This record gives sequence, structure tokens and C-alpha cells, in this order.
Amino acid sequence: MKEIKTTYLLAIATVLITLAFASCTTDPQSPGIEYMPDMYRTRALEPYSGNANYADSMEARLPAEGSIAQGHLPYGIPNTNEGYELAGRVLINPLANSEGMIAEGKVVYTKFCVHCHGKEGKGDGATVTVGGHPPPPAYDSQTLKNLSEGKMFHTITYGKNLMGQHSSQLNTEERWKVIRYVQTLQGNEASAEETVAEDTVDEESTSEVTTSEEISMNN
Ligand code: HEC
Repeated sequence: MKEIKTTYLLAIATVLITLAFASCTTDPQSPGIEYMPDMYRTRALEPYSGNANYADSMEARLPAEGSIAQGHLPYGIPNTNEGYELAGRVLINPLANSEGMIAEGKVVYTKFCVHCHGKEGKGDGATVTVGGHPPPPAYDSQTLKNLSEGKMFHTITYGKNLMGQHSSQLNTEERWKVIRYVQTLQGNEASAEETVAEDTVDEESTSEVTTSEEISMNN
């Protein structure tokens, strides 16, 4: 009985010792035999290593057509004159008209707009006074005094004539913030809400007005 036990023990010990040695290799970089290697090593392909499953072998795939990145809902209004008018009628600033928001808008303005529009929005920024470029109209001029926030959003998004588009520099929220500040420079107590309200009486716009909230949320 005792002998059998010893034989078993010896056999088990031999197997274990053999396994222990078998897992050693001469390559110091090799981990030797691994138990369930899938658990430590992902079977995913290396980035940019090529992928035979695709005809073009491109491992890093492009997003599927029509994908929308989180938090980046596209601006659905086209860059046309009609789009500009439509934006003026239907877009509503989703941000509060509060002092805090205006202050944040001013930060954006100081970084992205002041060099053309000037500190007070009079169209006398450095590009005009130093660079000699044609001035933008003052925000409190007859031209822009009553400009609706929707049209501002449209112009900031797409640009207009000499003003370049700012959609790549400013996200949607930053655009609405800076609009809050620009409105204070319009020197017009009748805020953009009233301008929009007036515009919405416009007959042809009534059909779009229902979508205004939706659009302003999305943008
Ligand atoms: C490169 C100079 C430049 C920069 C930078 C610039 N603008 Fe302008 N902006 C202009 C000019 C020029 C116009 C006049 C465009 C026209 O009506 O022909 C204009 C027009 C506008 C208008 C009137 C738009 C309309 O629909 O008539 C608004 C509002 C405005 N800018 C806001 C901004 C804001 C906000 C920023 C910063 C995010 C900014 N701009 C940055 C040059 C600039």
C-alpha cells in the first residue's frame, strides 16, 4: 500500500518537474508555455497592421456612412441665402441669457472675434486698424442692430463674405455663448428673442416654427 502511494507521488512529481522545465526556454523574452494564453494576449489585430478580411486591407476602418459622433449633431441648414433666412426664423439660443453665460461668451469673443470686430464690436479690430482690411459693420449699426441670433449662428457656422467660417474652431455651445455676448454689443435692449418673435409672424415661416425647438436643441 505504502509502495503504491510512493509510486503515485513520484509519478506526479515527475510530471510536475517535467512541466516546469518544459516551460523554460532559452529565449529570455519568451514567457515559456502559457496556460490559456488568450487570457493575457488579445487576438485583435495590431493597428495599421493590415487586415486580409477587407479588400483594401485597411485595418483602421472609416465610420459607417451617416455615422454621427456623440455630441456632434450636424447643422442641418444649408449654406444658402434661403438657409440663412430660415436660420433667422427658427434657431433659438438654447443657453440662458445670464451674466455668467455672457461672461463666457466674452472669453470666446476675445479669442476668436476681437481682432476683426474690435473690443466693443464697432468693426475696428487690429485687422482693420493695423492690417488695413475692410471693416465689418458695427454690431450696433443699423445693419446689425436687429440681427437675429439664428442668422448670427448661421454666419458664425458658415462664414459670410470676408468673415470665414468658425465651425471648426467653435463647437455649437461656444457659438451660442459668443452670440449671447455679441447681443450685448448690439446695444439693443430688444433682445434677439423679440426679433425672432417678430419674424415668426412671417407667414411662410409658420410651418418651420414648429421645428425651431428641435433644431435649436440639435445645434
Ligand atoms: C477675419 C475677420 C473676422 C473674424 C475673425 C470674425 N468676423 Fe464676424 N464678420 C467679419 C466681416 C468682414 C463681417 C461682415 C460680413 C458681411 O456682411 O459681408 C462679419 C460679420 C459678422 C456678423 C454679422 C453676420 C450677418 O449675418 O450679417 C456677426 C454676427 C459676426 N460677424 C460675428 C462674429 C463672431 C461672433 C466672431 C468670432 C467667433 C467673428 N464674427 C469673427 C469679419 C470677421
